Parts: sequence; structure tokens; C-alpha cells
Amino acid sequence: MTRRVHPSTSTARAGLGVGDTGDGVDLVAPLSLASVRAYADLPSVDEAMEGRNTYRRYGGGNPQRLEEAMIELETVAGRTAPVARVTSSGQAAMLLAATLVAGPSRPRIVVVRPCYGGTDSLLAGPLGNLGVRVSTVDLPADGGGNHGELVAATLGPDVAAVVIEVITNPLIGLNDVPAVAAAAHDVGAAVIVDSTFTPPFLFQAFAHGADLVIHSLTKHLAGHSDVCGGVLLVDSEHEASDWLDAHARLLGVNLAPFDAWLALRGLRTAALRVERCSENAAALAAFFADRAELRAVHYPGVRGAGDAALAERLLPRGRGAMLSIDLQGGGNAADAFIRGLDGIRLAPSLGDVATTVSYPASTSHRALSPQQRAALGITDGLVRISVGIEHIDDLKAEFDSALIAASAG
Ligand SMILES: Cc1ncc(COP(=O)(O)O)c(C=O)c1O
Repeated sequence: MTRRVHPSTSTARAGLGVGDTGDGVDLVAPLSLASVRAYADLPSVDEAMEGRNTYRRYGGGNPQRLEEAMIELETVAGRTAPVARVTSSGQAAMLLAATLVAGPSRPRIVVVRPCYGGTDSLLAGPLGNLGVRVSTVDLPADGGGNHGELVAATLGPDVAAVVIEVITNPLIGLNDVPAVAAAAHDVGAAVIVDSTFTPPFLFQAFAHGADLVIHSLTKHLAGHSDVCGGVLLVDSEHEASDWLDAHARLLGVNLAPFDAWLALRGLRTAALRVERCSENAAALAAFFADRAELRAVHYPGVRGAGDAALAERLLPRGRGAMLSIDLQGGGNAADAFIRGLDGIRLAPSLGDVATTVSYPASTSHRALSPQQRAALGITDGLVRISVGIEHIDDLKAEFDSALIAASAG
């Protein structure tokens, strides 16, 4: 039996010398851009059509290597490996997931909020037009309340799935995923975990009740702001795993080879990056904690005993790269803070190797009215930080100057 290696080892080696250990082979996976392959005769094309290599929409070498790496990372020790498809975006992975679970007998999907704004918009908008119905449940971002009971109150036999994130955007709250999963399973609903903020080095969602797991590869897993992609993994014990291949082929959401190649290259350093980003983020959360310029610091585990216990239970290996700060001076202070940053760029995404900031009120949550944002705790002073791998002393120095600029401005 092959010894199971650590995720940092398997990702560092992902795609190396795949399938051929002879002399002179490419060390890294070669890139193949072909959209179709040629065959000698009818029996061979017949056989090939059953596989995934014939036509780019079905799969291909580069996407499949990335899938294999993601499957290895998300396989829980002692359990059967999930099945996976890499997709053209994180949104495409959610689209694929929803089509796998929703149908006429179970048309409703419960979305646990706060969550990425595109999730409920996709499910209620384009998929709503096709008959999917969406209910939302707002969980308190302060780690309080019984998350299982709060979600259970909206569940019923018409619910196909509950969609939940582990760490929420933009208030960086922590959801009790196992409790919500148990409530969903009680009514026979599937659990779709969007684990984008919690790469598998920090949190393996299948170990905590997920049936389907999504990542936007665009963020930490690819990690260099040059790829748009996603991945959907389905527990092979779940019935939806049987029709994943057929749906993916028909929907045409496959990730393009060059993006898959780039994402695999990024993934090879992801374990190291995520570890360092998490350490830096925890250090910055402590650095921000006693700053008079701030109304609040949002980071998993900092909101009292319940939140700390949940963080200890769900994220023992690190609490992630994302944190938010709420500036006393509101929108003007946020503008001055962002202008006061020297090398840290304002960019409406996350997960880059370098630290970036974003402003939720005018990016991820711009579609909401000021009143709706206020109700969710998304103030005009809120700045979200995606922490990178830079030296912590430089990050502290730069944020220190920006805070001083914010209070002056
Ligand atoms: C938590 C989360 N899920 C999903 C997505 C969608 O990913 P993509 O932009 O790759 O479609 C995002 C994008 O910001 C996100 O933050």
C-alpha cells in the first residue's frame, strides 16, 4: 500500500512526470491546447468517446491533473475519494452543483448568509427562472446562536440542498458547518460547502458533513491572480456523484487547459502559502486588536468564548488569510486608509500571494441598498484584507501608516 503523504508533499509534487517515469520526459505536466483528438479507426473512437480525453468539453489532460490533485487534497483519511470536475469559474462550480441536486421534487435551496453575493443571485436569478426556489437564513456573524437550529427552522422535504460557507464574507464570521449539515441531513437535503476561504489544508469539508464541496480556484488555490476557475467535488457516497460527468459534459463548464495548467502550478505552493498567509493574518488580527482607529476587527475566534471554541474545533490548523477591519471614521476614513497603503493594492478579489484589500460596500455588496448593508453589518468603514506571504514586519509598518492616514483624513 502506498503511504499517504502530507498535503504539502502531494501538492508540491502535483502533476510531476505524470504517467511516464522514463528518461527525458517533461518534469512538469505539458500543456495541451488541442480541443479534439484523432483516432485510427471506428473501434478506437468508440472506446475513446466513453472517456474524457476525446474532446475538450469533456475533460483533457491538464484539467484532469488538477482534478486529481484536488481529489487527493479533499479525500478524508479512511474514506473513499470524492469525484471532481474543475470548472471555468467558482460560479460555474456552484451552477453545476445546483443542477446536480435540485429538481421538481426538491426545488428549494437554502442559502446560509452572509455569503458571496453571487451565490444567492445565481440561484435565485438564472436558476430561479428554471424553477429553483431560494430561501435564505442569516446567521449571526459573532459566533452566537445555535446555527443548526436556526437553519433547521427553514428546512422541509422540498429542500434539495443547504449552501453554506465556512468563513463568511465580508465579516469573516465562522459557521458551525457540522451542526448545519446535521440539520440538513435530517430532512434528506444535501450540504454544499463553499470552502473558498478555507482551502483543504485548513479545513476538509467532507469530514464535517459536506456532500458537495466547491472552491473558487481563482483565489488561494491558484493564488497568483492570473486564473479564473473553480472546482466541484462530490462525495462518492452521494447519489449526485453518478451524474456529475453527464451534467458537466452537457453544461460545458470545463476549465480551459491553460487555466488548468496555471492553477496546478499555483497549487503546488498553496500549502506553504496558505500556512504563511494564515500566520500573518493571525498576527495582523492581534496587531489591529487594540488600535483606537478601529471600531472592530473581524477574524475567526476573536468574538468571545463561543467563537473561540468553534474556531478551535473547526480550524485547528490555522484560521485563514482573510480578515476585516471597521474604521471609526466610516467611508472617508476607509478612503484615506486605502490611499495611505504603499505597496498593498486595492483589488476586488482575494487569495493573491501578496496582500490586497477590498471595499465590500462598493464591490462584493454593491448591489445591496445602504440599509440592507447596514442590517448585515457591512458599514462604510469596512475594509477587507486578503493577507499574503510578505514579511509580517512590513505588513504591520504599512498598515500602521495607513491607520494614521485614516485618522488624519
Ligand atoms: C466565497 C466565494 N465563492 C465563490 C466565488 C465565485 O468565484 P469565481 O469568481 O471564481 O466565479 C467567490 C468570488 O469572489 C467567492 O468569494
